[in-house]
Amino acid sequence: MSTEKITLPRIAEMKRAGERIVMVTAYDYPSAQIVDEAGVDVVLVGDTAAMVVLGHDATTPVGMDEMLMMASAVRRGLERPFLIGDMPFGSYESSNEQAIENAQRFVKQAGCDAVKLERGGASTDRARAIIRSGIPVMGHVGLTPQTASALGGFKAQGRTAETAAKLTEEALGLQSVGCFAIVFEAIPSAVTEALMPKLEIPVIGIGAGPATDGQVLVLHDLLGVYAGHKPKFVKRFADVRGESLKGVRAYTEEVRAGAFPNEEQHTYSIPQEELEEFARYLEEESLVGIDTPWDW
Ligand code: KIV
Repeated sequence: MSTEKITLPRIAEMKRAGERIVMVTAYDYPSAQIVDEAGVDVVLVGDTAAMVVLGHDATTPVGMDEMLMMASAVRRGLERPFLIGDMPFGSYESSNEQAIENAQRFVKQAGCDAVKLERGGASTDRARAIIRSGIPVMGHVGLTPQTASALGGFKAQGRTAETAAKLTEEALGLQSVGCFAIVFEAIPSAVTEALMPKLEIPVIGIGAGPATDGQVLVLHDLLGVYAGHKPKFVKRFADVRGESLKGVRAYTEEVRAGAFPNEEQHTYSIPQEELEEFARYLEEESLVGIDTPWDW
């Protein structure tokens, strides 16, 4: 695998050359290091963090400050991949000014290369404004979790001719204002296949079938870290939760049994004469007891 840094021209070239684009989410420094070392091309600090990291039951509660903290940590762990910050619910809908200001925060404060926002409609205007301000934007159509309740829940989209036409218009609108790529989420694969020839920009699918230019999954889903709902389109490539549980259980048992820490392997030593001097100090000094506020 090449160590060449992934840039916007490289992403466009990958589409032209038919090289599949690999995208994944990450939310912290160690995960960023892992996905970089594994050869992922594009990393998204997704607002799915609200669910898989922060424990909410929707993506909407996460805010800009939390997203920026996670994006900065991911930035520190990445060298080769292209980094995208996901604009959280409430960070871009009100006005173009609000959208530009928050997109700039992802670039200036967290070092992101681009931002992503959800839906067509008014979001297309926001995307245009952000792109004109000089920041690349990735679109996102189909199941858009920030507006899941308006869509009737976390459900596949475009399963009727009418809704498939609606998401086509949204995708083409986002392409026409200059989005460099677009996510298709939870869309029937036949609809994706029919739409692909109309899109000149790379399409990254999640539950949208194999016809897209690349795929994205939520890291905690593919690694089996997250115990919550597993959408149909998720394939588990590892059982990190199971392994973590084994590790923490083993630690718990060893602490309770007095088997950890081991005197030889996990402790520090002190020269004998220093220890003796310290023992004399303990004997000679009248050590004043600590005055605690608690009366147990
Ligand atoms: O927030 C996220 O993780 C996403 C991906 C599922 C594309 O938007």
